[in-house]
Amino acid sequence: MPTYPLEPFRIKSIESIRLTTRLERERILQAAGYNLFKVRAEDVVIDLLTDSGTGAMSDTQWAALMRGDESYAGARSFYQLQRAVEEVTGFSYFVPTHQGRAAENVLFSIVVKPGMAQSVPSNQHFDTTQANIRARGGKPIDLVIEAAHDPALVHPFKGNMDIEQLERFIETVGEARIPIGLLTITNNSAGGQPVSMENIRATADTYHRHGIPFFLDAARFAENAYFIQQREADYALRSIPEIVREEFSYADGFLMSAKKDAIVNIGGLLAMRNADLFELVKNELILREGFPTYGGLAGRDLEALAVGLREGMDEAYLAYRIAQTKYVGDRLSELGIPIVQPPGGHAVYLDALRFLPHIPQSEFPAQALSVALYLEGGVRTVEIGSVMFACPDPDTGIMHYPKTELVRLAIPRRVYTQTQLDYVIEVCQRVHEQRDTLRGLKIVHAPELLRHFVAEFEVV
Ligand code: F0G
Repeated sequence: MPTYPLEPFRIKSIESIRLTTRLERERILQAAGYNLFKVRAEDVVIDLLTDSGTGAMSDTQWAALMRGDESYAGARSFYQLQRAVEEVTGFSYFVPTHQGRAAENVLFSIVVKPGMAQSVPSNQHFDTTQANIRARGGKPIDLVIEAAHDPALVHPFKGNMDIEQLERFIETVGEARIPIGLLTITNNSAGGQPVSMENIRATADTYHRHGIPFFLDAARFAENAYFIQQREADYALRSIPEIVREEFSYADGFLMSAKKDAIVNIGGLLAMRNADLFELVKNELILREGFPTYGGLAGRDLEALAVGLREGMDEAYLAYRIAQTKYVGDRLSELGIPIVQPPGGHAVYLDALRFLPHIPQSEFPAQALSVALYLEGGVRTVEIGSVMFACPDPDTGIMHYPKTELVRLAIPRRVYTQTQLDYVIEVCQRVHEQRDTLRGLKIVHAPELLRHFVAEFEVV
């Protein structure tokens, strides 16, 4: 029996949860077109839709909010944040943005040139990153190691870039057509899996040998560092801040959704070393987000972020956080429920292809499973499968399905207790017992980009 870690904090303020009945949830699902993004949060019992912006801020962060300097230009809060960014990441050129995808928009608007058939490789792009590259006419390319596509396979660094494939890709496409290269730590799209320091170094090396600037998508930089400390030889005795500094040291810049490891409800960062790029970024930021010393955030948000960047690296917190995720993953495995192995940093991912082998990918097995978890117990999760990633090839029109169909149980930071997570495990177990009766879904309406947020479905 896996053990639950001791929480290194206590609860000072609470938020009530409204319990719903199955009958109510049936009606709610119908009204929402079987899309859980369209369900009101009040109608959710345990919300595992995302770990993004859903964390509980600490008393220190709430206190920092009061120190927010709301001046338009040169606010004290900006310099507070600058000190934290420099200390944690080593970068001095950076801008705040309102969240991660805003940083993506600003960066790719500058570096990806429409009509030039450019590609942007990564281990695996997140959906908004993919969409922001596509929106500029670029092609996002995923080159994660083969192991990432096998949910049952245990690998300590399943988020790693396939370096040989990257090398071959650059040689085939030509470096002139690759304006920038990325690496996502941890790899959200395939299970919240970490990337080893050795792989970060090798990825940087490969890009740099070809003169390609290397940016980290560093939303979960601290969880990645904790895995490096636990799993990579030579890092066991290194502190988390040291490991984090080393992660960033290999990059020419980074994008960060601060809503994850920096434990704020809103915020993002875009940083770089190149002074010319920094000038272009500031101009674009003024057009899209705001003046460079606030970038679409309030002064108080900048203060909370400065505190959160450091708090997210606390070793006792990270040990608890990763053990909590592992507890959920290991309990589900014990019950014979197929998950992505090993459990990731911020989430446990159910493997819908093995959970519901009778539902073909064209009928969205992961979406069907996600809907079933809500119906059974009001647990809200998110599909990371064909609704999110299947798309027709622009040249042939043939539908490309992703290699995995996953349901993500994302765990908000410092929010849920063991009893609440035990309830989630029980709901998964009940759905697993009825799995043969579940049916697939078909899309009745969807936009072209980022369709998972708004698509509506019917039961097949
Ligand atoms: N990159 C990664 C790896 C992400 O996981 C996310 C967001 C983003 C970029 C975009 O950041 O939401 O602040 O605009 N992931 C959230 C999630 C939405 O649920 O995993 P954002």
